[in-house]
Amino acid sequence: MIQTLKEHLETTDSELASLIIKIGEIAEIISAELPYRRGKADTKNVFGEVQLVADKWADECLIEELKKTGIVKTIVSEEHPDIVKINEQGKYNVTLDPLDGSSNIETNNSVGIIVGIYKKDLPTQGKHQVAAMYILYGPMITLVYTARNGVHEFLRTKEGFILKEENIKLPEPGQLYGIGGLRKEWQPKFKEYVEELEAKGSKLRYGGAFVGDFNQVLHYGGIFSYPALITKPQGKLRLLVEAFPMSLIIEQAGGASSNGEKSILEIEPKDLNQRIPVYVGNKEFIKKIEKL
Ligand code: F6P
Ligand code: MN
Repeated sequence: MIQTLKEHLETTDSELASLIIKIGEIAEIISAELPYRRGKADTKNVFGEVQLVADKWADECLIEELKKTGIVKTIVSEEHPDIVKINEQGKYNVTLDPLDGSSNIETNNSVGIIVGIYKKDLPTQGKHQVAAMYILYGPMITLVYTARNGVHEFLRTKEGFILKEENIKLPEPGQLYGIGGLRKEWQPKFKEYVEELEAKGSKLRYGGAFVGDFNQVLHYGGIFSYPALITKPQGKLRLLVEAFPMSLIIEQAGGASSNGEKSILEIEPKDLNQRIPVYVGNKEFIKKIEKL
């Protein structure tokens, strides 16, 4: 028997459920428009990265559509330097990476959307998320969410999003590793650690989009990292919009997240646009990294 996303969310708070469903619907609108929204915009985001037409458009689409729900209070988006105020009466504060991995669009490789949902005002620690989710545009569209009730994956079909896998747990032993940043920029101990993984037969999977590379680890086990680099000790990924939601998902799937010292969910954000070294995967992999 197929189970739809709506049916699966029946035991979740109804407003939170409607928000998760709405984000799934917006993701479909965005995916359908990508062929018409290619190329570079003539602006840069707060991180100094050249924005793509698709980045800006996905961001506007999400914000406009989430406004209509009436239940979103504020949004923190990768494409905005400040908090976007939506509705003072809203119940949820949402973080958005509207189009993660967008440099993959031109080559038609994986991209997606990463979302964190809070009742507390932002910025706050990732452990306060009431839900986190991502949508992955691959050969198919999948939606992965946790409402702190395990991790569940849905597949976009003609019948809407239907359950693909319930209560996903990271397989043991973890098989894959995917690590960003130039190898010559990795810290020496981390480089040795990766060489050990390679010697043991771990397989490299790296596609250049956090959503896609993370999704591999969720299904095959292993480790994904965008580590601290020699010239960029804070790495590349953004704490609020990227690291927090994925850390909740990995921990709910029985894995661990770390910045090299402690769970990413415990980090107190100092500013909205902060970056953080990211190590996520099976617990034993992450424990070793914290000992380096
Ligand atoms: O959002 C940043 C991002 O595009 C991630 O999706 C991805 O993990 C990373 O950057 C890829 O960076 P690089 O191009 O350095 O491999
Ligand atoms: Mn991103």
